[in-house]
Amino acid sequence: MSADIAEQPAEIPLLSVRGAERTFQVGGQKIHVLKGIDMELRPNQLVMLKGRSGSGKTTLLNMLGGLDVPTKGEITFRNYPFHQLDDDERTAIRRRDIGFIFQTYALMPLLSAWENVELSLRMAGTPRAEWKNRVAHCLELVGLTKRADHRPYELSGGEQQRVAIAKAIAHRPALLLADEPTAELDSQMGAQVMAVFREIIASERVTICMTTHDPTILEVADHVYEMVDGRFKAS
Ligand SMILES: Nc1ncnc2c1ncn2[C@@H]1O[C@H](COP(=O)(O)OP(=O)(O)O)[C@@H](O)[C@H]1O
Ligand SMILES: [Mg+2]
Repeated sequence: MSADIAEQPAEIPLLSVRGAERTFQVGGQKIHVLKGIDMELRPNQLVMLKGRSGSGKTTLLNMLGGLDVPTKGEITFRNYPFHQLDDDERTAIRRRDIGFIFQTYALMPLLSAWENVELSLRMAGTPRAEWKNRVAHCLELVGLTKRADHRPYELSGGEQQRVAIAKAIAHRPALLLADEPTAELDSQMGAQVMAVFREIIASERVTICMTTHDPTILEVADHVYEMVDGRFKAS
């Protein structure tokens, strides 16, 4: 009995999705994009969503991060029922506990790598006294200490994506969501990004959920969900 209790923390999902559906009203038509999704993300996992373009991956990822809510069903993040919370409540949780990475990096073009990472601490309300150490640590984690003063246009795509990763983890989120983070990168830079993901799962205790179509990248996942037309294919 006590052994069960001791093992519990690793078994409690960080995020769980039950019967999630999403329909969009376009003109007079209802488009059924997600048709009943069940999934779980557990602590310190690297989970991937694969599927053809248009299958619903981005729609689902946005819901996992509380950017959108399901039309039907439940999404629970750390005991917070996202499906019952309003925009402001979800935004507050997202700012504190979730990080996002996009295919096109989404960095501020006029800010240096250092300033981009610092901006996310400012947004999260991290005390200013902690900024310097944390920014330095995050840039080191992604191997960009020497590029701290460079602006995005002075960096390669892979380096820009690594700045975006440093920025997304700076405020110590429990969950990192990445929408096709390697799609714009060549295979070597993509592999570097995946190595960084593995490293931060171990050292920062974060769970990562990402979308990809790349078969070599899917190999490093702890779990893969395959989306086919708004549903997961049984694996
Ligand atoms: N806001 C929206 N309004 C209407 N249709 C949408 C909206 N968002 C997504 N869709 C539709 O949902 C489907 C799935 O899109 P998406 O989740 O972006 O797929 P994926 O990321 O797998 O390529 C597409 O057919 C897309 O056109
Ligand atoms: Mg997409």
